[in-house]
Amino acid sequence: MPNIVVVGTQWGDEGKGKVVDVLSRHCDAVIRFQGGNNAGHTLVVDGIKSIFHLIPSGILRPSCRCVIGPGVVVDPEVLLGEIDKLIEAGRPPEPGQLLVSSQAHVILPYHCDLDRLRERALGGQGIGTTKRGIGPCYEDKVARRGIRLGDLMHRSALQARLQVVLPEKNRMLTEWYGAPAYDLDELVDRMVSFGERLAPYLGDAIELVHGVLERGGSVLFEGAQGTFLDVDHGTYPYVTSSSTVAGGACAGAGVGPTDIDEVIGIVKAYTTRVGAGPFPTEVQGESGERLRRVGQEFGATTGRPRRCGWFDVPLIRRAARLNGLTRLAMTKLDVLSGLPKIPVCVRYERDPTDGSPIPVYTEFEGWSQDITQCTSFEQLPPACVAYIKELQELVGVSIELISVGPGREQTLLRGSFFTT
Ligand code: GDP
Ligand code: IMO
Ligand code: MG
Repeated sequence: MPNIVVVGTQWGDEGKGKVVDVLSRHCDAVIRFQGGNNAGHTLVVDGIKSIFHLIPSGILRPSCRCVIGPGVVVDPEVLLGEIDKLIEAGRPPEPGQLLVSSQAHVILPYHCDLDRLRERALGGQGIGTTKRGIGPCYEDKVARRGIRLGDLMHRSALQARLQVVLPEKNRMLTEWYGAPAYDLDELVDRMVSFGERLAPYLGDAIELVHGVLERGGSVLFEGAQGTFLDVDHGTYPYVTSSSTVAGGACAGAGVGPTDIDEVIGIVKAYTTRVGAGPFPTEVQGESGERLRRVGQEFGATTGRPRRCGWFDVPLIRRAARLNGLTRLAMTKLDVLSGLPKIPVCVRYERDPTDGSPIPVYTEFEGWSQDITQCTSFEQLPPACVAYIKELQELVGVSIELISVGPGREQTLLRGSFFTT
């Protein structure tokens, strides 16, 4: 299989985890390249549901090596919790199967505090972050006052570094927000103990990934969040703090653009968003409630109800450009079954008073059949096939994987390379 970047084309939760699990059957390595445990990627294998926040979604394939790349921000306690859960489930990740880049930045407890306190201070004007410390950690990385996982291996160096960084954090916490300060020695002890447990998994992600590439193996770059949560290209300031677009895979995983063969965009058959920010095709009332209920649209990380709306063609066309999409995988088509008509936003008009975008909808014929048991594209009802083909035409990228349920097996393939 070629080397593939998998990205979300909307505002996250498109079903990236499921698709990465399906594709990882043909991969030698899966690497996460950005974000942190703000992500929640759900896999359903043999009826058992697993949610991963940091560990790549290839982890249920023993032959696939999973890598947390240098561009990821890692909360060591969360990562250790995920490893423990895998051990409890009888699937302990061997150090050879899971490798965590020692260059990845550490989310410290004060990052989570600052994320939470800032959101609280903003009241109703907040971004609606996941409060996992993502933004404050990336800020420190760019400001060159971050701590990297490798630093947790050396107590005296970590102590010296935190001695410089911590006073500013403590002043911010206590004087600006009236929150408690951190004790340097206690924080160092805590971080060093995490480091000791993580030590068997830490290493050089660049060596591993390029080793696979040089041997002719295939690497899958697993994106988190979605295109319109990208810090440059998303609905700023209602975005996350990393580059979620396919280009982010190069910087975050340490490969060049020439190492990547394909970019697969994951797209829901409708649209959802968690947190604040613009969402032009959002639907309120019973229609929105129905999508949320049938699609079980509640955040995999925070449990928050997701905002729901219709498919937005101009949005996905833009995502195709921003990511250089070569193919699309469409998820959650089964959620639309039973709707007599399915509205799709095909373009925007401008509101003459304030210039805001007004979606213009076309209604597609719905289908009544349950499609969750379909095992091939040909078994889908004609109206469902028409929905897929029309959207593919309107977006301009072919839809080659169709997901009709959360299970690994509820996946229909149309293209050639997925099956090789
Ligand atoms: P991710 O963050 O992009 O990996 O997506 P999430 O895991 O946060 O959210 C996707 C949700 O939809 C999860 O609960 C999946 O189990 C579920 N899911 C994925 N594909 C399908 C599908 O085709 N149909 C249905 N009904 N659920 C799906
Ligand atoms: P996956 O990988 C959906 C959203 C948050 C908030 C904004 C900023 O599961 O698709 P942050 O905590 O990153 O500073 O929050 O981004 N957000 C997500 N929404 N899925 C995600 O990840 C998300 N990760 C962050 O809700 O609006
Ligand atoms: Mg998710």
